[in-house]
Amino acid sequence: MSNHDHAATSATRHILITGASSGIGAALADYFARPGVHLSLWGRNPKRLEKTAEVVRAKGGEASILSLDISNPQAALEAFKEADDALPVDILILSAGMADIRPEGALAESADVALAMSQVNFATPVALATEAANRMAKRRRGRIAMLGSVASFHDLPLATVYSGSKAGIGRFATALHAAMSPYGVLVTLIAPGFIDTPMSQRLEGDQAFLVPVDKAARKIARAIISGKAVLVFPWVFQLTRLLEIILPRPLAHRILRGLEIMQHPSSS
Ligand SMILES: NC(=O)c1ccc[n+]([C@@H]2O[C@H](COP(=O)([O-])OP(=O)(O)OC[C@H]3O[C@@H](n4cnc5c(N)ncnc54)[C@H](OP(=O)(O)O)[C@@H]3O)[C@@H](O)[C@H]2O)c1
Repeated sequence: MSNHDHAATSATRHILITGASSGIGAALADYFARPGVHLSLWGRNPKRLEKTAEVVRAKGGEASILSLDISNPQAALEAFKEADDALPVDILILSAGMADIRPEGALAESADVALAMSQVNFATPVALATEAANRMAKRRRGRIAMLGSVASFHDLPLATVYSGSKAGIGRFATALHAAMSPYGVLVTLIAPGFIDTPMSQRLEGDQAFLVPVDKAARKIARAIISGKAVLVFPWVFQLTRLLEIILPRPLAHRILRGLEIMQHPSSS
């Protein structure tokens, strides 16, 4: 963390990160770790959570882990209330998410995947952000970051549920920013392209402009600290977002139907 970022977050005592056992969430835990800051690290895999906690402790920070499946929004909400009651959360980073594309030969994803992904990528993060925003507004301070994706800007035939769930997060996060910014609570939508994590490593096919995870974490952390409403990166995806608006939809759909990406099964 740079000295400037250090100064900007000097009042920060508690950061809660979902998806802290892997990828972007783990890299953000590493970025924010420092003496005087407690990191609550959520995920499912206890071994990988403990690894992130060790990185935090090695930098002089405090860490606690919670192994919790957030496909149950009610359980996640209760756990968040408990964590915030114990030590008010200054920064909430909602990074946990799942990605799936339709199986080979199928026309769309299965209904089971659609339901699970709607809960993990949309229902639970939205419930947690809403609870956090209400609590933070009373304290007149706080930051909430929600991981969307550039996938939300495009009608992806290969990943209808993923792009739909991320589009929902995108609208929700900017609407919450509009509602909460007068009360000192700044909500940041993070909409990245491909970042080099286990999620993208499962994909086979062109991953244009792949960003190393540490570089992505630095960019994301700065956007959170500054309270920026939306971060889209790398920049090329600002252009594809514009193209999607300009192009007639049937033409855009024809192009998007041509995308060829395969996905290996998850190893966890
Ligand atoms: N990587 C990319 O290219 C990319 C691009 C755009 C957006 N994003 C978004 O960025 C976020 C982080 O992705 P990543 O690349 O860091 O992926 P990742 O390395 O696969 O990490 C995903 C994290 O989410 C957690 N998670 C998944 N399902 C969960 C569940 N049911 N309950 C609790 N935790 C769960 C995982 O926990 P366990 O491993 O412990 O199960 C893991 O910590 C996601 O929301 C993703 O959609 C990623």
